[in-house]
Amino acid sequence: MKSVKLRKSLVRGFSFWRLLEKILIILRVMFEKLRYPKVEIMTSPDWVDYELIDSGEGRKLERFGDIRVIRPEAEAVWRCMLPANEWEKSDAEFIPSPEENGGHWKFFRKIPESWNIRYKDLTFRLMLSNSKQLGIFPEQACQWDWVQERIRSVKKPMRILNLFGYTGAISLAAASAGAKVTHLDASKKAVQWAKENQMLSSLPEDSIRWLMDDGLKFVQRESRRESFYQGIILDPPKFGRGPKGEVWEFYKGFPELMQACKSILAADADFMLITAYAIKASSLTLNNSLTEITRNLGGSVSNGEVCLQDRSGGRLLSMAVYGRWQKN
Ligand SMILES: C[S@@+](CC[C@H](N)C(=O)[O-])C[C@H]1O[C@@H](n2cnc3c(N)ncnc32)[C@H](O)[C@@H]1O
Repeated sequence: MKSVKLRKSLVRGFSFWRLLEKILIILRVMFEKLRYPKVEIMTSPDWVDYELIDSGEGRKLERFGDIRVIRPEAEAVWRCMLPANEWEKSDAEFIPSPEENGGHWKFFRKIPESWNIRYKDLTFRLMLSNSKQLGIFPEQACQWDWVQERIRSVKKPMRILNLFGYTGAISLAAASAGAKVTHLDASKKAVQWAKENQMLSSLPEDSIRWLMDDGLKFVQRESRRESFYQGIILDPPKFGRGPKGEVWEFYKGFPELMQACKSILAADADFMLITAYAIKASSLTLNNSLTEITRNLGGSVSNGEVCLQDRSGGRLLSMAVYGRWQKN
């Protein structure tokens, strides 16, 4: 009799501990999932002079000011929402060639060689360049806003470094919010174009220092000179070349560049922003890298995707991944 009772209580006890163990495992998994970084989706809803009209079948139909263009878009694997006659209203289409980044513009109407568009207090000159680009990445406007918010919230002079800065949109945004900006790009043409955008936006000449240099080499030199920045912005391409033919390859150069950037972050640094286009990496890669280099600085890291939203269907088209570190 006694042994039956003992066995029953053992079985009961055993299933109680098994149940408790299972609950603890579930709680641990739930807790760990809460700690996973969230992939944020960012759009730029404040545009007036730009819109993604429709997308689909490997292309996107966009309006830059009064000019409508069609550009290839590998991510648009769905069907277009608008009928063909809407797409036929476009002024030009970029026809890609089999080589990477190759192709040409086909014109359906005569358009000006260049024209201007505005985003809030900034003005940009646009033109159809030999690549499929027009001079700005409109999906980045949300990052221009964020950088301005950071600069305005700090309420003290900030030195900002913008690497791989292209035609300068984010440099202009930072200067317009009151920062002293160092803008760097390997291309003379891009730097010249960015300077024109500064003039068109009526920003003081001394608000931006323009440099034509190799991104990695410059940061390493700044580190030796102990020249520090309160904010660093970088948009490294998958592949590029410095002015003296220095080869930039994202997966080879990025870890070294991040360590170099770490060494020029000022003790009172406030933010860092990385954007990456056309690479395989997820935004988690950028998060991990930022988390590693800002470990002793406190603050928080976030990551996600910058997207365009088409007017025709409200669909989100992911254009690039980003990672951000901010002090508070
Ligand atoms: C993706 S674009 C940057 C876009 C820009 N951040 C924007 O949103 O308008 C990349 C730029 O990196 C520049 N670049 C490529 N290799 C470079 C290098 N080794 N050093 C500096 N700039 C480089 C190119 O000239 C190009 O303008």
